[in-house]
Amino acid sequence: MPLTITPLSDVLAAEATGIDLSEPLDDDAGETLNQAFNGHAVLCVRDQHLDPGQYVAAASLFGEPVQQVNRYSRFPEFPEIGILTGDTKDSRGERIINGATWHTDHSFTAQPPLGTILYAVVIPDKGGATSFCDMRAAYAALDDDMKKRVDGLKAVHAYESSRSPRRMAPRTEEEVTETPNVEHPLVRKHPRTGGRALYMSTTRLERIVDMDREESNALVDELLAHATQPKFVYDHEWRTGDMLIWDNRCTMHHANGDYPIEEKRLMHRIMIEGEIPV
Ligand SMILES: [Fe+2]
Repeated sequence: MPLTITPLSDVLAAEATGIDLSEPLDDDAGETLNQAFNGHAVLCVRDQHLDPGQYVAAASLFGEPVQQVNRYSRFPEFPEIGILTGDTKDSRGERIINGATWHTDHSFTAQPPLGTILYAVVIPDKGGATSFCDMRAAYAALDDDMKKRVDGLKAVHAYESSRSPRRMAPRTEEEVTETPNVEHPLVRKHPRTGGRALYMSTTRLERIVDMDREESNALVDELLAHATQPKFVYDHEWRTGDMLIWDNRCTMHHANGDYPIEEKRLMHRIMIEGEIPV
């Protein structure tokens, strides 16, 4: 079966079928996958069977994998691969779902990863989808006055925004020093396509630069409500063997913890080195 790219929704996301990433690929296939990724912002390669080494090689088609931060949840021999389980419970026995609110990965860093990849190893029978929203379409749908207002603005991103609906894991003093607040453009230009997209995160975006707090909060709330309307959203229902990459430069995503507490979910995560947002 030839490599085929098929859209998964009207706004973003496509699937790739007819390709086995455990084998060396020719340049054409790599190019086709990268074009699909840049065009659709979310690309799911179906039916993969990848050991850790093959997974790192497949991820490298999209750029340079970076090391995962948390040593306790990564492969010792493959520090690029993070291990994500839904096994962490709070004091009431409820599952802790990381990434349950709309965000783009690591926007508190000066050079956030351009893409994040999840490889679905164990999937619950139902629930546990990942939701994506298209920040290109959200920007394009703003009226001209709003576009004029937001173009050129910068936003402060923090490890844990005071606006964040959830608390982040505490940092050591050293980690606090290593992760000062950063400023990023509120409207980001995609380095491959040249397209513009809102660049926001509910957990990290602290405030708009040079704007008073009240005005900043109102604008951020309005833009987030706009961008996360169902018409800009695609919910990915996982299948075992999906290797899915999303573009952190022009999408937000969130996890859904709506699967039975006794069911397992296991994902292997790789992040791809990104550029300084412009
Ligand atoms: Fe995330």
